[in-house]
Amino acid sequence: MPLTNRPNRSTLTQFLIEERRRFPSASGDFNALILDVALACKAIARAVAFGELGGVMGNHAAEEGGSVNVQGETQKKLDVLSNDVFIRRTEWAGNLAGMASEEMDLPYQIPGQYPRGKYLIVFDPLDGSSNIDVNVSVGSIFSILRAPQEVIDSGRDVVDADFFQPGAQQLAAGYALYGPTTMLVLTVGDGVNAFTLDPTLGEFMLTHPKLMIPQDTHEFAINASNSRFWEAPVKRYVDECLAGSTGPRDKDFNMRWIASMVAEAHRILMRGGVFLYPRDNKDPAKPGRLRLLYEANPIGMIMEQAGGRASTGEKPMLGVQPTSLHQRIGLVFGSKNEVDRIERYHAEPVKVELKNPLFAERSLFRD
Ligand code: F6P
Repeated sequence: MPLTNRPNRSTLTQFLIEERRRFPSASGDFNALILDVALACKAIARAVAFGELGGVMGNHAAEEGGSVNVQGETQKKLDVLSNDVFIRRTEWAGNLAGMASEEMDLPYQIPGQYPRGKYLIVFDPLDGSSNIDVNVSVGSIFSILRAPQEVIDSGRDVVDADFFQPGAQQLAAGYALYGPTTMLVLTVGDGVNAFTLDPTLGEFMLTHPKLMIPQDTHEFAINASNSRFWEAPVKRYVDECLAGSTGPRDKDFNMRWIASMVAEAHRILMRGGVFLYPRDNKDPAKPGRLRLLYEANPIGMIMEQAGGRASTGEKPMLGVQPTSLHQRIGLVFGSKNEVDRIERYHAEPVKVELKNPLFAERSLFRD
């Protein structure tokens, strides 16, 4: 099939303009911001694609300004570069009141030489970056919020609390996946659309309109090396998946773990599945591994907009009131019926293990 097989495919720009026609009073700032983000993603895709040839592999050396981010994780050179690309591509246009990033301890202030706008952006510039050096897919995640009215009116510097908005208040969320092809997946609150980067045109083309996640699945993703730290409902869920057709689920499951959440989310968006990085008791100081504002919330919005679900394990993710910028949280997302089931297991009383064979196979509370 020739590359030009669909000359009428929408570009991202065309898609955004057509979306905006639904809001005749919209100023265009929002679209301009999304296009700046898309350009940042293209620049990061290029840096990732050059790999070793680009001289950007490996850790960010201490003598170049530090090597551990606010999460206590070793920063890769590409983490730092991607963060910089996001900032430089979006700070100048007058659309943003401020930014926050996984790679920065504090919110980023729009420099004095630029006008300030009405949106906030929160991002993880390069998620899954431990995969970079082994050439496995990584991605960028972003969430767009409206700045509090008083910030917009005063133009003051942003503070952490300005970003503490439940995920349900996100105006848009998306990710770019740097895989065999570069894709941009976007929701502006009206379903989920995915665009594939045409590397010759340098344009994101609409290739997957209105994505919907199958409600059922037989594929789950979890880092099983943490199993001894899991809480009982998670153990129960995974045990039942592993028991397959010989257990209460009565069907065999498949397991996948890429250790790159964007790649995991994309697989689930395309063919269903469930992802768990639950709260566990590995480190009591960390209520989960992933971050609420720039991982769980944007992925959560995408899942929900595609007919899937996102949860803390106990309750809907998008209802959680954030209390800190880099807050960690248990995250479960994907096919609706599986996420519902995991929430149900959390709500049910903990099973009592009984040895007495009179009481069924494992417990009083059988399915
Ligand atoms: O943000 C961190 C991240 O890289 C996610 O993309 C991924 O799902 C997770 O960490 C992998 O964690 P672990 O190393 O525990 O498997």
